[in-house]
Amino acid sequence: MPKLKPTLRQLHVFETVADELSFTRASERLHLSQPAVSIQVKQLEEGVGLPLFEHTGKRISLTEAGSILYNCSQTIRSVLEDTGEQIDELMGIQRGKLDVTVATTASYFASRILAGFASHYPQIAISLDVTNREGLLQQLESNQCDLVIMGEPPRGKRLESTPIMANPLVIIASPNHPLVGRRRVPVKELGEQTFVFREPGSGTRAAIMRFFEKKGVPIQISLEMTSNEAIKQTVQAGLGLGIVSRHTVALELKTGSLVELDVAHFPLKRFWYLVRRSDKPMSPVAQRFEAFVLDPENH
Ligand code: PGA
Repeated sequence: MPKLKPTLRQLHVFETVADELSFTRASERLHLSQPAVSIQVKQLEEGVGLPLFEHTGKRISLTEAGSILYNCSQTIRSVLEDTGEQIDELMGIQRGKLDVTVATTASYFASRILAGFASHYPQIAISLDVTNREGLLQQLESNQCDLVIMGEPPRGKRLESTPIMANPLVIIASPNHPLVGRRRVPVKELGEQTFVFREPGSGTRAAIMRFFEKKGVPIQISLEMTSNEAIKQTVQAGLGLGIVSRHTVALELKTGSLVELDVAHFPLKRFWYLVRRSDKPMSPVAQRFEAFVLDPENH
């Protein structure tokens, strides 16, 4: 195989297709489009000079060349993992400590990412603090944590931030609310509704307030609460509408205990950022966590 010079990325894509025996499922797992997966496999096949998969109807299976490459790919991965562990040991990563603080709303996915990180690095002592945007900014100011996950960070501070994923804000209602089923409800109609809001200091609240001020629509807040769970239960009980990150209501929307309203300009587009102080050197553990979070496969 003189032309075979695969990249690690190509091998990883190929292994995922071989594990799933499906280009569609592999592309979902890898957060890539199906054509992107097919191109990577095709490039590998060109290097090998033989097809790696055979197609029987809708099914695919590994060819003999595919099986040989699959074994080779697993050997490479295991050698790299061993090498990585030895280097981590040298850098002290295996026994390090990580302090992460995340926004109340980000905790819905951040704990999953941290669990993935912890399973890769079981020796690292991880501490997770959950607070609202105001609390996060104070922690960054007083240098209390390695990294934070939050909504858009303020400009002009000594902060370095990288977007990690979308954070759409949606309007939720109980299933028997009169606006359920209406299409493209105009924003000004929301002025007639009552809302259950997060507390002052919440980034979600600040973003919603900015939006309605810009639109010139006054909003009636009937209740304020510090937790997204409490908002969900209050909205389910029919005491008003809520505006929350879609991350917080995935389950309720699926089971139908809450409904997402179709309102013009919604969902509001926001992003989650990984943020750190730019004037503070990062520990090797924090660097490793940063790389882990920035890889979409770990989300
Ligand atoms: P929060 O979320 O509403 O939980 O403070 C932070 C943010 O969206 O900035």
